[in-house]
Amino acid sequence: MNEHIQQAEAVFRSLNREVWVVTSAHEDRRGGLLATWVSQASLNPDKPVLLVGLAPNHNTTDLVNASGYFAAHLLNPTQQQLAWNFSRDSGRRRDKLQGLACNPQITAAPILENCHSYLLGKVYAKVETGERSYFWADVMKAVQCSNEPPLCEQDFIKWCDDDQKQVLRADKTSDIALQRPQQMAYRQALPDWFKGTH
Ligand SMILES: Cc1cc2nc3c(=O)[nH]c(=O)nc-3n(C[C@H](O)[C@H](O)[C@H](O)COP(=O)(O)O)c2cc1C
Repeated sequence: MNEHIQQAEAVFRSLNREVWVVTSAHEDRRGGLLATWVSQASLNPDKPVLLVGLAPNHNTTDLVNASGYFAAHLLNPTQQQLAWNFSRDSGRRRDKLQGLACNPQITAAPILENCHSYLLGKVYAKVETGERSYFWADVMKAVQCSNEPPLCEQDFIKWCDDDQKQVLRADKTSDIALQRPQQMAYRQALPDWFKGTH
């Protein structure tokens, strides 16, 4: 492997981003996934905006596309099992929300009870880049239940045993293989005005 690729991987591995459970629902379907690609996307405190980057092959992405809503939850530091539940496989195979307490008053997206905090987003823009669908959303509701730092990626991965780590690695490897052609096609099809100056 080229040195700059190894170094880039080392730089990314030194990060310890918070993990989010992103949920969505449409008609009789509901689901969610674990995500690190969630970010505040507006400096204006009067108009909070959330940006999420979801892989186009994920079940949750289908649900956000269909409904135009999602909820992004931060987890308490002891909620590794919940993180595992939402990251281990596809919601096309099982209902990941089965048995979990959800707020019955909010129907736009499943709101998990007992989390660190959540933001409910209403999508107003989307960009597809082959390997990711980026959704910009106005924050319609926000609740913070804890002032403690939330669960972060490295603490979740440390909690996973070897078999769980293997499942997550396999999921990532298959996502990369699946998305590679779409990502290349997207880059090749970019119009000149979008490519920058080089
Ligand atoms: C630490 C971690 C971070 C992840 N971040 C994202 C992310 O930002 N976006 C995404 O689409 N998938 C992300 N994933 C992968 C999904 O959580 C995983 O593939 C999930 O099972 C997809 O579920 P779904 O098909 O039911 O939507 C992440 C996984 C882990 C372990």
